[in-house]
Amino acid sequence: MISHLLNAPIGEDDIAVGVGTVGSSEAIMLAGLAFKRKWQNERKAEGKPHDKPNIVTGANVQVCWEKFAKYFEVELKEVKLREGFYVMDPVKAVEMVDENTICVAAILGSILTGEFEDIKLLNHLLTEKNRETGWSTPIHVDAASGGFVAPFLYPDLEWDFRLPLVKSINVSGHKYGLVYAGVGWIVWRNKEDLPEELIFHINYLGSDQPTFTLNFSKGSSQIIAQYYQFIRLGFEGYRSIMENCMENAKALKEGIQATGRFEMVSGDVGVPLVAFSLRDSSRYTVFDVSQSLRRFGWIVPAYTMPANAEHVAVLRVVIREDFSGSLAERLVSDIRKVVADLDGRWSRTAIVAEVKAEEKPGGVVAYRKSVRETTQPQEIDGDRRGRVDRKKTSGVC
Ligand SMILES: Cc1ncc(COP(=O)(O)O)c(C=O)c1O
Repeated sequence: MISHLLNAPIGEDDIAVGVGTVGSSEAIMLAGLAFKRKWQNERKAEGKPHDKPNIVTGANVQVCWEKFAKYFEVELKEVKLREGFYVMDPVKAVEMVDENTICVAAILGSILTGEFEDIKLLNHLLTEKNRETGWSTPIHVDAASGGFVAPFLYPDLEWDFRLPLVKSINVSGHKYGLVYAGVGWIVWRNKEDLPEELIFHINYLGSDQPTFTLNFSKGSSQIIAQYYQFIRLGFEGYRSIMENCMENAKALKEGIQATGRFEMVSGDVGVPLVAFSLRDSSRYTVFDVSQSLRRFGWIVPAYTMPANAEHVAVLRVVIREDFSGSLAERLVSDIRKVVADLDGRWSRTAIVAEVKAEEKPGGVVAYRKSVRETTQPQEIDGDRRGRVDRKKTSGVC
């Protein structure tokens, strides 16, 4: 079902293979291992060095890619971001590809903004480079969030196995797959893309059991839940849930824009995610907004962008199926209250009196008193902070 959804070519010679995992992190470790081993085998066969593998990706990757790079000794070559452009630039990515590149990892649904990367363009540019160099650098798509969104909302968008260089795709069942935490998926285009030597076969459970996962035992409840959701909701059910999420994301976006205080960082095409920054951060920051929203029970993370856009700080709301239209309205109303409160702290003026001593000739000391108005911010006092921290909150990742 998942191979079909990702448009894997299924025919006599093409047999897509895949495994269920704990989440996209494990799926990405397995994908990386398959690319590394395949590349090493090819390099060994050609008598070339095979000790410095690298992966080219955007600086917007999720931390699991950094984990993979460190744990499995692969260099991560990151395409830096820039203000106003928060996904991997395919042109720069392809420029960074060299003979040691085991794959280019593209993201469908960036964690930072929810935006999709241009994988079709990446496939095109990389095909050209492969033709010129004689290499066969493949693409992996990290579709942790977008893998269960794009097929329903953007069926004509080519990002998956329709693109020949896409050899493997991961997706989290516990994000838009609509299952509780603990399930992810990885699919390889073809058996040849997953080196056989990585698959272990055991028979002590009664019959041959091929296994390629980091952990052996795993609960079946998530697999059953995923299967249940597929057959219970069907393609149409998923589509209507994703459309509803998008509607709610749109309502939230419009409400936030109407405050006049924020500008949108996330674009229109992507997963239902609203990322926004303050127009004016000279008096208070998105971190203050995030902290103040906790008073109303919201955890809206504020964070800075990765290199080279670290100076940009944003707030992010991920819209899941249980985030209703009325919750969107409530969040907008609470954001308005928070902004009014933060504005109020700044507009309240205080009279500050200063006394300066001036020594005059002859040892005489004159005291000069000046009075001025100030708009210093008022700190949230300890007691109020204490109450904030004890309040029940709920969040999504
Ligand atoms: C793009 C992307 N890749 C990988 C991951 C890791 O996924 P998981 O939490 O399922 O291990 C995430 C999670 O937020 C993600 O957004």
